[in-house]
Formats: sequence, structure tokens, C-alpha cells
Amino acid sequence: MKKLIVGNWKMNGNLTANQDLLVALAGNQNVASGACDAAVCAPVSYLFQLKNVLETTRWTWGAQDVSAHDAGAYTGEVSAGMLKDFNVRYVLVGHSERRQYHGESDSLVAAKAQRALAAGITPIVCVGETLAERERGETMDVVKRQLAAVIHAVGHCATELVVAYEPVWAIGTGQTASPPQAQAVHAVLRAQLVAACGEHGMSSRILYGGSMTAANAAALLAENDIDGGLIGGASLKPTDFSSILFAASAA
Ligand code: 13P
Repeated sequence: MKKLIVGNWKMNGNLTANQDLLVALAGNQNVASGACDAAVCAPVSYLFQLKNVLETTRWTWGAQDVSAHDAGAYTGEVSAGMLKDFNVRYVLVGHSERRQYHGESDSLVAAKAQRALAAGITPIVCVGETLAERERGETMDVVKRQLAAVIHAVGHCATELVVAYEPVWAIGTGQTASPPQAQAVHAVLRAQLVAACGEHGMSSRILYGGSMTAANAAALLAENDIDGGLIGGASLKPTDFSSILFAASAA
């Protein structure tokens, strides 16, 4: 299946720097030719800018979080309907930085995924184990538990999810899961999606994230069940990001 590369800017950027980066992305030939699918997930304050620059291209864009509530007295929250005003295609839910620093539970992540789907936005459900969990041999149990909560909440809509496996120990550390290590987890997630959605689970995209770079993207993307990448640091560097887009187009 065609690979999907998603940049996650995290809490980085400003109007001027974003503009240069977005103009570079808009000119990317691999995306323009349709050889791979691509998206950028930016802070909500810049969604209008993404829409302005990218709406005439094949790029899609997204947010990094969404409220589990529809509307009301939830100061600081942004609803799925509000994101939809900026034509977002994707929203990250359950990123490990949200789980870790904001105490997001599996059930809250599931509620967020539900809200996104109800608004016509595809949730990118992030799962992944910490180093301690890996060392205790709990990797598969952790990712299965995290994904099961979402599948249980969204029911037949599970076919519409994108899943991202991001081992916490690989995020921003320069330490990547080896391709076979990542593939082993992706195969387990694939089996879980197939169990929930039948053959449709075969066409759900499972992205890998965690120190994916221009140097290691091709090897990771060559694995059977690695359908794309969720890229942090390298998505802020136009040359590195375009090398990853090239690798995804050739894979
Ligand atoms: P890095 O690519 O910087 O490791 O970040 C990965 C990530 O968390 C993407 O969501």
C-alpha cells in the first residue's frame, strides 16, 4: 500500500519559520506526484497557516491533540468540530508525551479517537512501550492494551484508524527500533486490527515513529507491516524530511 509520512512538529515553530518550511514541503515532487501520502501535524495556532499554504497541494494536515468533549466549559480545550473548521484530515491521539506529561489514560485516548471520528477526522492512535516495560518483556501487552481500548470504543469504525507505533525509548533519543524489532510489534498490531475488522485490517496503516531519519527510513519502510512514518525532529528539517518522503516513495 502507498506509504503515509506524517510530520509531528510538536511544540515548535513560528509564523516566519513555518512559512519557509511549508513552502518547501508544498514543492516536494514525491508528494506532488502522488508517490506517497504526506501530512503535517502542527500546533493548533498554526492550522490556519497550514490550510493557507497546503490547500492547493496533495498535502494533508492535522492537529496533535483533541478534546474528548464536544463543547462547553472546558477552558483551554479544542474540540474536533473546531479542528474541522481548518479542514484537518488527521489528529494525533495518545501521543506518549500526552500520556506521560498530561496523564492521559487509555480510556481518555479512546474518547478522543471517538470524537475525532464523529467529526470526520482520522485519529492517528499512538501506542508504545517505555524502556522499563520493554526490559520487563511487556512490549506486546502494553501496545495491545493501548490499541484495544480504542478499538473497543470505536467499534466498526476501527477500519478508519491510523495506528502509530512509537516506542517511548526511541522518541527524540536517536535510538531507533531496528527494522525487525519494529516489524515484530507492527505484526502484532496488524493481527489485532484484523481480529477486529477482518480483512479491512490488512489495509489499515500502521506507522512507525521514534528517531526515524533520512538514514534509517528506507530500511524501516521496507518491512511488511510498516506502512509509513510519524516523524518528529526530522520533520522540522526540509532536507531530511524530503529524504524520508523519497524513501517512502521508493519503498
Ligand atoms: P522523533 O522523530 O523526534 O524521535 O519524534 C518521534 C515522535 O514522537 C513523533 O510523534
